[in-house]
Amino acid sequence: MTLHRKTARGVQGLFITFEGGEGAGKSTQIARLAEHLRADGDDVLATREPGGSPGAEALRHVILSGSVEPFGPAMEALLFAAARNDHVEQVMRPALRSGRMVLCDRYIDSSRVYQGVTGDLDPDLMRAIERAAINGLMPDLTIILDLPAEVGLQRANARRGAGAADRFEKETIEMHARRRDAYLAIAAEEPERCKIIAADRPAGEIAREIAVLVDQLKVDRGMKARRAAEVFK
Ligand code: TMP
Repeated sequence: MTLHRKTARGVQGLFITFEGGEGAGKSTQIARLAEHLRADGDDVLATREPGGSPGAEALRHVILSGSVEPFGPAMEALLFAAARNDHVEQVMRPALRSGRMVLCDRYIDSSRVYQGVTGDLDPDLMRAIERAAINGLMPDLTIILDLPAEVGLQRANARRGAGAADRFEKETIEMHARRRDAYLAIAAEEPERCKIIAADRPAGEIAREIAVLVDQLKVDRGMKARRAAEVFK
């Protein structure tokens, strides 16, 4: 039995991204969904941005240390894009091509929101950078974990404890609120791809809601039916 699936795009897994502000619970929900999918026989890759490949992890360290902040948001956006392109070409596209389910903690929408909206960058520049970074690799589904900025920040602070805040966590509550609005605006523009999930609820409840969404997507893409057919072969 093979877990590979034929879709209109060839043998391809689902590409699911998780987005939201600090403390929204992305990593918890990625772990829960990975567990759910594995129980259903899927081969899952859980990964993150910035990072996910050796080259991109090196850039992550540089970006989050704050040492490129003086270069300005446009140069920062280019570095995020360079990291993304390495991650896409070295890790995610090959994984999807071999039929794996890829769950990614942050992707293009983080750049659109953090650099594009709160970095006040030119939308045309952002679109061009995005195109170069992903070369057509759009998510099949983007889960936006939505949370009031104050709640997210409290959670992130509690989790960090005495540890140092990274370059982005240090910013103001107003900035976080603008980012929340920007995520909601993206979801309104791309309702097919982006699903908003209220994140100020028990983790188990959120995980079940996400599992239902993903199971439905698998049915829509003919993956569930094909799996059953393979099992009975
Ligand atoms: P993390 O805290 O979720 O690991 O993400 C690291 C920080 O990097 C987070 O504050 C958001 C920020 N970020 C961007 O500004 N642009 C991006 O494209 C990505 C992927 C992350």
